[in-house]
Amino acid sequence: MNRKIEIFDTTLRDGEQTPGISLNAKEKLEIARQLEKLSVDVIEAGFPIASKGDFNAVKTIAENVKGPVIAGLARANFKDVDCAAEAVKAAARPRIHTFIASSPIHMKYKLKMTEEQVLEAAVAAVKRAKSYVEDVEFSAEDASRSDVEFLCRLYSAAIKAGATVINVPDTVGYTTPKEFGNLIRILMERIPEIDRVKVSVHCHDDLGMAVANSLEAITWGATQVECAVNGLGERAGNAALEEVVMALDTRKDFYQVKHNINTKHIYRTSKMISTITGVFIQPNKAVVGANAFAHESGIHQHGVLMKKSTYEIMTPQSIGLTTNMLVLGKLSGRHAFAERLKDMGYELSQDELNKAFERFKDLADKKKEISDLDIEAIVEDQVMKLPQQIELECFQVSTGNKSIATATVRVKVKDKIVEEAAAGDGPIDAAYKALERACGMNCKLVDYSIRSVSGGKDALGEVTVKVERDGRTFLGRGLSTDIIEASVIAYTNAMNKTLWNNGYSKP
Ligand code: KIV
Ligand code: ZN
Repeated sequence: MNRKIEIFDTTLRDGEQTPGISLNAKEKLEIARQLEKLSVDVIEAGFPIASKGDFNAVKTIAENVKGPVIAGLARANFKDVDCAAEAVKAAARPRIHTFIASSPIHMKYKLKMTEEQVLEAAVAAVKRAKSYVEDVEFSAEDASRSDVEFLCRLYSAAIKAGATVINVPDTVGYTTPKEFGNLIRILMERIPEIDRVKVSVHCHDDLGMAVANSLEAITWGATQVECAVNGLGERAGNAALEEVVMALDTRKDFYQVKHNINTKHIYRTSKMISTITGVFIQPNKAVVGANAFAHESGIHQHGVLMKKSTYEIMTPQSIGLTTNMLVLGKLSGRHAFAERLKDMGYELSQDELNKAFERFKDLADKKKEISDLDIEAIVEDQVMKLPQQIELECFQVSTGNKSIATATVRVKVKDKIVEEAAAGDGPIDAAYKALERACGMNCKLVDYSIRSVSGGKDALGEVTVKVERDGRTFLGRGLSTDIIEASVIAYTNAMNKTLWNNGYSKP
């Protein structure tokens, strides 16, 4: 019988360490719910000791997402472990994931600890975690650059202390497939207790080998792969979940393993996470890139027309990409809209459906044909919307190549209407200055990007902004067929998010 490979998703923990990403509790819960639909085995929901926000997010996910194991990360000390235990306590299947570095360079310069001290801390942390939960994972950080004899001793001690999973991280993305496979083989041979636990790998992509290294580890007996959707993660990121899963799926003849993932949710999960994090997917990205199923050359197109499998090793449908780009328009009713959403895999509450339908109707007044891409953008925007403390009432801009750009905005801030005007270096700068004046807030715009959601001159424009306030980064998104309006909405949303800190605080 084929071995089962467990998919441990760390999008919400290592993925959130992607530079520039900062997710609020609502966004994390939505992502966790989508990961549950994808049927991941484990969700690493966060690093509870890191901040109050992280603790609350892990706790909320543990309380609300009951399918997968919910893991919380902890360094190998009692304070971290106790905090992680408290955060995951409500989970149906809680796990504490504790780690300590084991490589000479990390022990000497970062921890300033000897091998024996590291071993002692690891055992104590695993035992402490075990006093709270049955399922305890132990990671030897920077395992791939550690002394293999010490690594065997460390993992063996962790298992004896109660670890149920031992994780082998290639923390700095340094190893190669052959070398990493060999390391897994040695650990399998030399750790007497290894049969009692799951063997996990956690690979980073600094040299572009994270997926290859993870797959090689599977061939040598690893039974859990840690990965993140769209390959998010610290520096160059983690092994991309969708690539690992589709490799196992497409090449089951070779790997001969099974997994739990419902691959039909891959596209939607990837799209949702890209939208929420503002980290766009490169067009030529494996599996989920816009070009992954596009055939450009005549020879390829001819081949695909004759038989798809000439140039397509997996189908777009297998990752849930809808090929039925049914076009809706002004005359389409609520029923057709709701049916389309269902076909696209969305499950909205009645309230969300009503609001999304209203936006669809507004858009249909401005745009003749509405495609799946437009619907996707509207729905994701609607579902992720936070209650607005600052509401945009209206705005006006005046600009030209020989005049100074000016903008007037009217906003409702906590039920009070405020109007302000400003001049700026272009219409968007002017509008953003006017918005800040009206709200009495000072934000720093650190990134601005614009793209069209679908084709055509009347396309829906999507603006994403990143703003900094009090040392934190917040992402705002705006959708409109008018790009200035999309820009103003995006900035208003980002300003709102700066006020959303597990509830509202004062501006
Ligand atoms: O990369 C790493 O070593 C980690 C550990 C905490 C597992 O993220
Ligand atoms: Zn990592």
